[in-house]
Formats: sequence, structure tokens, C-alpha cells
Amino acid sequence: MLRHFIEPSDFDKREYDALFRLAADIASNPKTYAHACDGKILASLFFEPSTRTRMSFDAAMYRLGGQVLHLGDAKVSSLAKGESVRDTLHIVDQYADICAMRHPVAYTQHYAVDVLKNMPLINAGDGDHAHPTQTLADIYTIRDQKGSWSNLKIGFCGDLRYGRAVHSLFEFLNDYDDEFVFIAPKGLDMPSNYLEQSTCPYEEVDDLQSVIGDLDVLYMTRVQRERFASLEEAKRYQGSYLLNQEVLNHASEDLIVLHPLPRVDEIDIEVDDDPRALYFEQAKNGMYMRMALILTLLEAKYENSRE
Ligand code: NCD
Repeated sequence: MLRHFIEPSDFDKREYDALFRLAADIASNPKTYAHACDGKILASLFFEPSTRTRMSFDAAMYRLGGQVLHLGDAKVSSLAKGESVRDTLHIVDQYADICAMRHPVAYTQHYAVDVLKNMPLINAGDGDHAHPTQTLADIYTIRDQKGSWSNLKIGFCGDLRYGRAVHSLFEFLNDYDDEFVFIAPKGLDMPSNYLEQSTCPYEEVDDLQSVIGDLDVLYMTRVQRERFASLEEAKRYQGSYLLNQEVLNHASEDLIVLHPLPRVDEIDIEVDDDPRALYFEQAKNGMYMRMALILTLLEAKYENSRE
């Protein structure tokens, strides 16, 4: 059986501990891993625009000594001729050893994964649903700074309705003893199916400044304008939040501020120099966690094939 990474729940707590430790070791001893994927190919299938995640997978594979095969511009690939995602995956399965895939339609990876016989599939984002490798970047940063994933008060702020990074981080943290504060304008609230699953206490508010003082972690997000029915509708929510130095002055000295990026207008650039702003660090940590994930999934594949 191939192991895939499509939802945060695909790994258990013990596996996340191991992944965190491996990523930390990679970050401290990068040379040790420089040839760990010699001769291996990662297929990078991004059916939706991406800068950070796509480059982070490329950088991860190159730093492990591997190579990357790109889908390229959908307009010049067979997708323009109407090839289905399943067929594309079926073919790529015969070319590459492992695959990272992003798609604008929620659950595409879940439906397509059964065609794979050879390569583990990593979900690099599916529509407004999930983004589990962003969660890896988030949780590395949280544990690195706070020492644990438990007993924290975490504020999720911005577009909680369409933000897949929020959904996956919530799913992960919901297995630990945390408290959540969902900070969103009416209409972009955390979807009820997630709230119903919450085993941690939570509150829903629309004002950031009044709650920021209680938080250990603040997870800021942009309005996901590409997911709205119209740009007009998205624009109504633009500017709902602005984290600037004045708002940050109400927060504890130990707060950490995360953001999956790209930032639009929700964090003032003056905040970047504040030691509590960790979003650039978080992007770097994402690369180490992706390296750890690639190694772990490839190892599982070769172990299985030896059985
Ligand atoms: C996130 C995504 O694509 O969902 N970005 C990312 O992967 N770094 C968040 C976003 O686009 O707002």
C-alpha cells in the first residue's frame, strides 16, 4: 500500500512528532541529507497559481539531491486538449517517484489518488478545502517557538470560510488540548462543519483588537478573492482587518504571528520587524517540513516494496 498525504489526519501524533524531529535535524544538518534523494524525481503538478508552495517543493527536492518534473503551463500541456486529471496522474505515475499536486477544485486529489500504483501523492492544496503541507509549516513554527502543540490559545483571523490553510491547521490542532478564537467578518466565518467537529473550546468574534491580548498564536489570512462568486463580493470584505503596530501593542510579548502568505493588506509591513512576526520564518520551515515529508513517504514506499 502506498502512503499518501492528502489530509492532516493521514498521519498520527507519533508520525507528526517524527516528522518534526526529522525536519529539525534537516534544518541543523542540511549536508547530511544533500544526497538522500539522488536519482529520484518529484512531479510538481500545479493546476492553480502558486509561488511559495510550488517553489518550496522544488527547493525541498533539489536540497535532497533529487530532480523536479513540472507540469508546466496548463495552456501548453495536454490539459488544453481536454485530458482529465486522472489520466494526467496515471501517466505521471510512470515517470516520477513522488508527486505534489494542487488543484482549484476541492477533493480532486481524493478522487484521483486511486489511479496511482507507484508514486505517493502529496496534496499541495485542493480548492477551499485542505492544505496539509501548509499545516506542516505552521506546526513546525508553533512547536519551535512554543515547545508544544497543546495548551495554546490560537486566534484564526480573516477569511475562515474559504481559507484552506485555516481548515487544515484547525483539523490538526483539534487533536490537541487547545482553545480557538475565530475572528472573522460576518459571512466569512468558520464553516459550521468544522465548528461541529471541534473538541476544543472556541469562541467566534469579529473584532481582533479586543481578543489579541489573550492569544498565544495569531494566524492571519487574506481574503481568498478567487473563491468568491464575483470580485465585487470579495471586495466588500477587503480591508476587514489590519494588523499594525498599534493593534500589536495590545498583544502579549510572547504572541507569535503567523500567515500562510501571500499577504495582501491585512498585515502592515511595519509589523515585519517585530520579533513576534514569524511568517517569513514559517515559509522557510515549510521547506524543511516538505523535505521531511518527501523522505518519509519515499521511505514508506521502499519499505513496502521490500515486504
Ligand atoms: C495559501 C494557499 O494557497 O491556500 N498560500 C500558500 O500556500 N502559501 C494561502 C493563500 O493563498 O492565501
